[in-house]
Amino acid sequence: MKVFITGTNRGLGLEFVKQYLKRGDQVLATYRNPSNIKHLHTILNSHEDLLSLIQLDVASYESCNHAYREVKSYFDSIDIFINNAGIASGGSATSYTLGGLHTEDIEKVFRINAIAPVLLVEKFLDLIERGNSPRIINITSGLSSITRKNLVFRYSYCASKTALNMFSKLLSLELRDKGIIVIPLHPGHAKTDLGGPYAPLVPKQSISGMIKVIDSLTLEDSGKFFDWQGQELPW
Ligand SMILES: NC(=O)c1ccc[n+]([C@@H]2O[C@H](COP(=O)([O-])OP(=O)(O)OC[C@H]3O[C@@H](n4cnc5c(N)ncnc54)[C@H](OP(=O)(O)O)[C@@H]3O)[C@@H](O)[C@H]2O)c1
Repeated sequence: MKVFITGTNRGLGLEFVKQYLKRGDQVLATYRNPSNIKHLHTILNSHEDLLSLIQLDVASYESCNHAYREVKSYFDSIDIFINNAGIASGGSATSYTLGGLHTEDIEKVFRINAIAPVLLVEKFLDLIERGNSPRIINITSGLSSITRKNLVFRYSYCASKTALNMFSKLLSLELRDKGIIVIPLHPGHAKTDLGGPYAPLVPKQSISGMIKVIDSLTLEDSGKFFDWQGQELPW
């Protein structure tokens, strides 16, 4: 399998890289900031045959174009395309609810969490179309569910992931005839910089669960909202 993943220098993205490499998959791991990839470099030393590192700031059109050209010069297809990169906030304010809403925060969080994934799919579509049983996995959050929403939390983060879910649904409908599966996938609450130290899961659990879910997907599942254990979640 050829697996493309955004935001892999730390957190869940890094664990995706480790687990896919462990089972012998070809991994196209992207990172935003070249000065912050020491873990990826260490892994590269022992997996030069399977791991390709590609710089990609998902918020930059130029960087997306550049990454696309780089990938295309080495690979003719992608089987699993994982939009993992995400941010919890786009500023330094402490409150992201009424009284603390900032245009810059909302715009930045939407740009990275919702707009970038759908534009990346558009950009890389010819490679995904040529994949083997291709699947597009948009890492969303349980906090995106409108049905389940009962607590006030960061407006920008929750709403950006709800928008990502809608983009996923639209993509699933538009790409169904091409045999491409698209789902939004909730990783559970895992200990990362974003998830915080008190999260109940470690990345290993979240990622091994998500990989099982991704492996088991059929076209019937496309457009559904799943969590890391394969449970269908309400929109
Ligand atoms: N952890 C959880 O409990 C949890 C729960 C629900 C959903 N999620 C979702 O899971 C995904 C991964 O989260 P995580 O917990 O692993 O977070 P994390 O540890 O904070 O890692 C976030 C990753 O996204 C990258 N990133 C941020 N902005 C980027 C940009 N403009 N271009 C490219 N990469 C960028 C970061 O790169 P830099 O290091 O360069 O900033 C980093 O690699 C996110 O979409 C998040 O919303 C996580």
